[in-house]
Amino acid sequence: MLKGKVALVTGGSRGIGRAVALKLASLGADVAVVYAGNQEAAQGVCLECQERYGVKAQAYRCNVADFGEAKETVSQIKKDFGTVHILVNNAGITRDGLVATMGEQAFDDVLAVNLKGVFNMIRHCSGLFIRNRGGSIVSVSSVTGIMGNAGQANYAASKAGIIGLTKSVARELAPRGITCNAVAPGFIDTDMTKDLQDSPLAASIPLGRMGTPEEVAEAVAFLAQASYITGVVLQVDGGIAM
Ligand code: NAI
Repeated sequence: MLKGKVALVTGGSRGIGRAVALKLASLGADVAVVYAGNQEAAQGVCLECQERYGVKAQAYRCNVADFGEAKETVSQIKKDFGTVHILVNNAGITRDGLVATMGEQAFDDVLAVNLKGVFNMIRHCSGLFIRNRGGSIVSVSSVTGIMGNAGQANYAASKAGIIGLTKSVARELAPRGITCNAVAPGFIDTDMTKDLQDSPLAASIPLGRMGTPEEVAEAVAFLAQASYITGVVLQVDGGIAM
């Protein structure tokens, strides 16, 4: 149970982030939902957390790629909730294209949100964790960061970067009782993959179907509560990357 704990979930307004916010709320955690643009959706998630699970939930607009904005947001969440115990770095984007023709902006944007965004949030929350002598960080990587994927060099680089970042932070913060792990989802049924459902990749999943956001949220909640697991990358992929 997570009663009395505060969870910060980035990209919590839809898809996997929404499922994570609801899962952590169902376990009793208060939730700060960080979103990029869709205030209505983020507030809808907060309302659902409050009404279904009786926890405190509040939405914060923040571009996680912006160091200063991330700092401001964490300090506002500290004012409103007192502290943060669980940080879930879920916000992510794709700008797919073949490397031979990929624009500079497509590379920079994906790295800025998916990788620097994770650094920014960890950087600004780690002081709170150190003060609390504990805390858990779970970042959403991808099997693409493990296997690579044609057409996603920028995305794969960002998701592989999350794995290196996770393991380094796990080593740095372990002496303070703070855990840092990643989940690597495979092919999950969300807005991000809505155009890919008939792709050959989907047909090659050993378990024979795409995953659900709730199945990823299950793994995130497990790692958020695990006291003796740090530095791991837990694949939630129906066997696609074994
Ligand atoms: P989604 O596109 O439905 O949701 C992404 C969320 O991130 C949205 O709430 C969006 O507002 C937020 N976001 C985007 N840019 C942001 C920014 N600059 N600042 C703050 N928030 C921002 O995607 P989905 O599928 O729910 O993905 C969530 C995470 O899971 C992403 O990191 C994605 O890369 C990862 N993932 C998804 C897979 C899939 O098959 N759907 C597979 C593997 C990983």
